[in-house]
Amino acid sequence: MLGDDPYPFYAQWRESGAVVKAPWGMTLVTRYEQVDRVLRSAAFRTPRGYRDANDPAGPPRMDRSSELALHRRLWVIFQSGDAHTRQRKLIMKAFTPRAVRALAPRIESLVSELLAPALERGTMAVIADFSYPLPATVICELLGIPAADRDRNRQWAAAVVQTIDPLCTEAQLKQAEAAMREWDPYIRTLLAERRKHPGDALLDAMLAVEDEGTRMTEDEIAANATFLFIAGHETTTNLIGNGLYALLRHPEQLARLRAEPGLLENAIEELLRFDSPVHFAPRVPLEDVEIEGVVLPREVPFAACLAAANRDPRRYDKPDSLDIARPDPKPLSFGGGPHYCVGAALARLEAKHAFEQLLGRTRDISLVTEKPVWKSSLTLRALTELHIALR
Ligand code: HEM
Repeated sequence: MLGDDPYPFYAQWRESGAVVKAPWGMTLVTRYEQVDRVLRSAAFRTPRGYRDANDPAGPPRMDRSSELALHRRLWVIFQSGDAHTRQRKLIMKAFTPRAVRALAPRIESLVSELLAPALERGTMAVIADFSYPLPATVICELLGIPAADRDRNRQWAAAVVQTIDPLCTEAQLKQAEAAMREWDPYIRTLLAERRKHPGDALLDAMLAVEDEGTRMTEDEIAANATFLFIAGHETTTNLIGNGLYALLRHPEQLARLRAEPGLLENAIEELLRFDSPVHFAPRVPLEDVEIEGVVLPREVPFAACLAAANRDPRRYDKPDSLDIARPDPKPLSFGGGPHYCVGAALARLEAKHAFEQLLGRTRDISLVTEKPVWKSSLTLRALTELHIALR
């Protein structure tokens, strides 16, 4: 609906108000300060996952007895209040900073393996051969999903993730339901095997973890396995893909990053700001809430537009320019408040190694793709393909 470049639409909406109506009927919060406040405020909840994301408070189109509804109902992102705190705490106990840090050597060697054939060939299909397999392999290993099953999981995930889009169609919903009819028993078989032969992966930790006498149920673990697989690869693929594309479109920034590798961590924050992998975060007010003179009525869903906030001129000097040395970028791309992204540190680590080697092991990278094709999703900002030449 917004085409390949949604930013002019975001600018128009943001300048017409902090709270506006999108063409598809949903209310949007568009400015940095207000989006940040919405994400942190206890006055809102995330939608319930068993209803259709298209209209979370309206008549549900999703078959509530389906595996898809069961999973979405239990995904941590769609929990609120005490139920959310409990589930998130249990997941976080398994997903420790130490466990993430310990992945660094593996990520480094994976990046190196993935780059080797491209360096030899002099060309790379970035999404297919690099930015997808890196995070997908890492999340499989982290969760305890066999490497040989990675691409099957990806196919199921690709069908299911369509249901988070506000414009999810009936056909996409059916595809997602069909995918989950296969994915759910696959995950449960894996869980049964891991109960018999526990290892030290995240699935084992979720099976074992206990907090103040509460455990995750089998349904919760299965659901959050599918959610973590989705959240753990698709977004990071897009951070690397969108980020590299942005750098290639701004050769002076790419040259500066090569000359000043110490800027890399700041550059990653700026790339997250400039073309965020996630553009919308849906919310539902618990009570009527007024923002800048507009009332967001109780129980009527709306979305915080992270990507519009990230380019708000009230917060950023020259927001449409890419500036890898921008002081304190602090994008809202990982959300904020109680639902702040669990995998932010992991995504940053993967991106750091990916860009470090991409730049450190080449002298020159150029775009082969002239006109990139973006996925039609509103929520996820994703290139379908990106071809480069590298020396
Ligand atoms: C660049 C990569 C990533 C981006 C841009 C991203 C973005 C986001 C955003 C915007 C949210 C909050 C949504 C909301 O408030 O409605 C979120 C939540 C979440 N993300 Fe990420 N994410 C990334 C990578 C990851 C990775 C690698 C993982 C796991 C391995 C992960 C796991 C999660 C989880 C579990 C939540 C839900 C947290 C909760 O509801 O308490 N994400 N992510």
